[in-house]
Amino acid sequence: MTPGFLGGTARLAGVIGWPVAHSRSPRLHGHWLRTYGIDGAYVPLAVAPGHLPSAIRGLAALGFRGANVTVPHKEAALALMDHLDPVAQRIGAVNTIVIGSDGRLEGRNTDGEGFMANLRDGAPDWHPGAGPAVVLGAGGAARAVLVALMDAGVAPIYLLNRTFDRAAALAAAFGGSVVAVPWEARSEWLAGAALLVNTTSLGMIGQPPLELDLSALPGDAVVTDLVYVPLETPLLAAARARGHRVVDGLGMLLHQAVPGFEAWFGVRPVVTAALREAVFS
Ligand code: ATR
Repeated sequence: MTPGFLGGTARLAGVIGWPVAHSRSPRLHGHWLRTYGIDGAYVPLAVAPGHLPSAIRGLAALGFRGANVTVPHKEAALALMDHLDPVAQRIGAVNTIVIGSDGRLEGRNTDGEGFMANLRDGAPDWHPGAGPAVVLGAGGAARAVLVALMDAGVAPIYLLNRTFDRAAALAAAFGGSVVAVPWEARSEWLAGAALLVNTTSLGMIGQPPLELDLSALPGDAVVTDLVYVPLETPLLAAARARGHRVVDGLGMLLHQAVPGFEAWFGVRPVVTAALREAVFS
């Protein structure tokens, strides 16, 4: 039986966002805290944009072990860290803060790691040498996916975005294997691809659908969508109907949380069906 209070030794972490009420992270970490019987708490922290620097400094002063950072603060948090890991630096955003016992703030970004772990989980037959990847979208989520795919050795990675200049800027920043190609020709670029990733918001409830003709996509290509509301997006439904292996976006949310939980609470948690249920029900 859980007491209705936290003792003085409870480890504290949370998620900083604005708004934050929609965040599934408290359920996610709450499930793991219960599963592993840890004396700790993970709380939603609604922080208005102007308050981000004082809120983050406050976490260290209050003895928090750390926090996740979500929309719209991921980029702004970068400048507030004492130390940045190289992946966060390359992605240009922080999603996980680890606070040392000396109060130092370490900024990490585990989104790319979460993307890759989810992909490997959902499509164990896929491997980085399988062939070209097509990535749709050039926002913050795309940056994390690109870094993960590049680091895994995927090449080439065709990047398509409604606003071509954003794709071109990312290709220029990341170089080599990332090639910006026109959004209008997206269906044609699927020919020969081994992996298709949607990082845009298209297909999310309340957003327009992603219009994409999958007929050129080879039958053994894997299709994954970062959108997880709904869990099976129209893109994933269409891909499944054509016989493709599909990987939904909820797993990325679950897997990106693993390193933070381990750093704050001292246990490396496992992503299970029960966790998916707890987070998505
Ligand atoms: P995130 O950080 O979650 O990736 P973002 O930076 O707002 O969010 O990026 C959203 C992505 O969805 C962008 O690639 C955006 O394309 P633009 O760069 O052209 O804005 C894409 N997107 C959003 N609405 C779209 C639409 N109606 N058609 C095509 N792409 C769209």
